[in-house]
Amino acid sequence: MKDQYQLAILPGDGIGPEVVEQAVTVLNCIAEVKKIKFEYLYADVGGVAIDKYDTPLPAETLALCKQCDAVLLGAIGAPKYDNLPPEKRPEKGLMNLRAGLGLFANLRPVKVYPGLADASSLKREVIEGVDLLIVRELTGCVYFGEPRGIENSGGRGLNTMVYTKNEVERIAKVAFEAAQKRSKRVMSVDKANVLEVSQFWRKIVVETAEKYPDVELNHMYVDNCAMQLVRQPSQFDVILTGNMFGDILSDVAAMLTGSLGMLPSASLGSDTALYEPVHGSAPDIAGRNIANPIATISSAAIMLEHSLNMAHEAHAVEKAIAKALQDRYCTADILIEGGKKLSTTEMGRLLAENVKLFL
Ligand code: IPM
Ligand code: MN
Repeated sequence: MKDQYQLAILPGDGIGPEVVEQAVTVLNCIAEVKKIKFEYLYADVGGVAIDKYDTPLPAETLALCKQCDAVLLGAIGAPKYDNLPPEKRPEKGLMNLRAGLGLFANLRPVKVYPGLADASSLKREVIEGVDLLIVRELTGCVYFGEPRGIENSGGRGLNTMVYTKNEVERIAKVAFEAAQKRSKRVMSVDKANVLEVSQFWRKIVVETAEKYPDVELNHMYVDNCAMQLVRQPSQFDVILTGNMFGDILSDVAAMLTGSLGMLPSASLGSDTALYEPVHGSAPDIAGRNIANPIATISSAAIMLEHSLNMAHEAHAVEKAIAKALQDRYCTADILIEGGKKLSTTEMGRLLAENVKLFL
């Protein structure tokens, strides 16, 4: 742990600024107790950047992120940009940020807090004890593959699902190494019964697995995996998958925790990692102080452990969240029977108070 860190803060759009502010509240509390300094360097990405600079990822934002110890992002996107071409949309800003920082590995841990075992749309016995990790490839696949576009005067639209050996190998290694620190099981998810790119993916994953004899490797088709995630999620330890399948499966998996507002993520690959909630900008509830800040605060916790060498403080944040839920505090998106509903800022303040108990 150093005594000073520089953090790039990218609030983004919709509920992004509201939830990021609560993570900053919690971080400030930790800094105060630990007598260290977090310097927050704010920058724009997504719709807010389009409005100000006519581009979803200004060069200054990327440059700023590169010089920081870590990046914390809120969310991007809003309906008013829906008719822009993909190149100009807020989402492109996030994709270019991930690619620009070389963040090919997206880790999405899915853990059910005991206090929320009855808050899921699934039965308690299905979700109890769920503790899985989605390792999603983040800078390849159909998201980035060429050729792409709308052709023939609007008569045809196309994208390309493509993976290179190097891309599959490096994400597979991340999954196997993560599994070694967990229950030593990797489920590689693809669509190899239909897609050549998936057959290739599977071949490279199998070859990479040879270097990890202590890890059990299995394969599953993505449609089956979506079903198994709601049927019996506790069967999974590490799920390794490509960019688009990972995007979809992580939203499914999020509901195991009771709300999409709970799921954090870390994007790794280069010196500067990016931490962001899995949820989007939720324009329908933006500005109303009702969004759930827990996914962002939980992302900040992973940042503490992973980028700032502050594992103890990270665990304190996790315990602070668990305690709040156990004490039946929740936000509007979480269904705890008889729960005490808090606003975004109230939840931020409560977690900042709670964290002091565990530091
Ligand atoms: C996510 C989001 C992004 C993605 C969008 C906003 C580009 O859905 O992080 O899951 O598809 O990767
Ligand atoms: Mn998504």
